[in-house]
Amino acid sequence: MRMKDKVAIITGAASGIGKDIAFVYAKEGAKVVIADLNHDSANLTAKEIQSSGGQAMAIAVDVTNEKQVDDGIAKAVDQFGGVDVLISNAGIQIIESVDKLSFDNWKKLLAIHLDGAFLTTRACLRYMYKQGRGGSIIYMGSVHSKEASVLKGPYVTAKHGLIGLCKVVAKEGAQYGVRANVICPGFVRTPLVEKQIPEQAKSLGISEADVIKKVMLKDTVDGEFTTVDDVANTALFLASFGSNALTGQSIVVSHGWFMQ
Ligand SMILES: NC(=O)c1ccc[n+]([C@@H]2O[C@H](COP(=O)([O-])OP(=O)(O)OC[C@H]3O[C@@H](n4cnc5c(N)ncnc54)[C@H](O)[C@@H]3O)[C@@H](O)[C@H]2O)c1
Repeated sequence: MRMKDKVAIITGAASGIGKDIAFVYAKEGAKVVIADLNHDSANLTAKEIQSSGGQAMAIAVDVTNEKQVDDGIAKAVDQFGGVDVLISNAGIQIIESVDKLSFDNWKKLLAIHLDGAFLTTRACLRYMYKQGRGGSIIYMGSVHSKEASVLKGPYVTAKHGLIGLCKVVAKEGAQYGVRANVICPGFVRTPLVEKQIPEQAKSLGISEADVIKKVMLKDTVDGEFTTVDDVANTALFLASFGSNALTGQSIVVSHGWFMQ
């Protein structure tokens, strides 16, 4: 029980990576808050965790909406008695080259990844600083926090930006025992990735099998996808780490696609 009675708010936890982190944390004794735009799926995820013996609640939150974030986190803190961990994970992908990308799509992606990270961080820090029991903020970066790929201009920009925010939060939060770190996964087969396989095939004029082999997994050491459990176990390690020694870092979990 490495997370016994810790309160963890996870954005984008109704699907993919966030959902798996919620299950792993709940199994380790955490009270998990499923914060997602998709309220039906968030409720369903919370119910699944409860029926397997865990503690969970759902909040309907668009992470780009200041009031929804502040109200949702206040509700979670009230119900579960504080907040110890934030996983800022909600995200989308938009596949387009920079010359063709609309300004609306640029702003939409940056808002979800960067405004969302800022608003949820700010809301949680205000409670963490007052509670006096420290905390852990974890951003879902990507190998694209370190590397670039074609057709992913706003995503690469946003994921690099999260590392900057993380480093500032690590410095400001230290005196309160609040740590901040970034997880940088390689490709994980979630709905976000399933959607972009045919999109990339069309844009690059190659087959879907080649998108997987020659684009997504080309530079890994073994041609393997990273799994949701690989990412969740990293999130467990970071959240349960016992001191300020591990803060301001970005950890790449990608089958060696990117080596620091
Ligand atoms: N799948 C990968 O290969 C991969 C690799 C590296 C990083 N990531 C990152 O991991 C995170 C999760 O991605 P995933 O692959 O699990 O995707 P996913 O599509 O399975 O899940 C994303 C979740 O975010 C929610 N969401 C989207 N916009 C939101 C908003 N405005 N407010 C609240 N919730 C919102 C969605 O409803 C969904 O439940 C993202 O930040 C993504 O960039 C994914």
